[in-house]
Amino acid sequence: MQDINNRTDLENLVNAFYENVHKDPLLTKIFEMPEDEWNKHLIRAVNFWENWLFKTGSYNGGMMWTHAEAHQKHGLTTERFEHWLSHWFSTVDMLFTGENATFVKNKSLEIGQILNAKFNLSPST
Ligand code: HEM
Repeated sequence: MQDINNRTDLENLVNAFYENVHKDPLLTKIFEMPEDEWNKHLIRAVNFWENWLFKTGSYNGGMMWTHAEAHQKHGLTTERFEHWLSHWFSTVDMLFTGENATFVKNKSLEIGQILNAKFNLSPST
């Protein structure tokens, strides 16, 4: 098994991940959207990881806001974060191994913990 080496690898990873997410009853509805929006989302998600791994500058930020909006609309509960992360970890492990594969797992956990703390653990203001 190889490491994540380029954008094509990331596209394969993100696609495989969402195949699993779509089958998860706790998450599937959240990601239902028109096809053109969905395709844009896939590009942004791949840009995001490409920017972390290969410093391409292809992601222009705003993920906090994106998730705050998703939280308001759907409720991003701790349980949902746990499911999301477990799909991400298992999809990465199924397809890749190495430094970059480890990085994307650690980074998603870090971000997931920050988002979850913001939405579910802080006292509401
Ligand atoms: C409960 C768990 C999560 C749910 C339900 C969720 C849901 C969503 C939704 C609904 C969007 C917006 C899709 C769109 O309209 O384009 C999104 C975007 C995104 N999510 Fe999550 N998310 C979760 C956790 C995470 C975590 C832990 C990461 C960590 C890396 C992450 C990374 C991203 C990225 C990179 C985008 C694209 C942001 C952008 O458009 O700029 N998500 N997510």
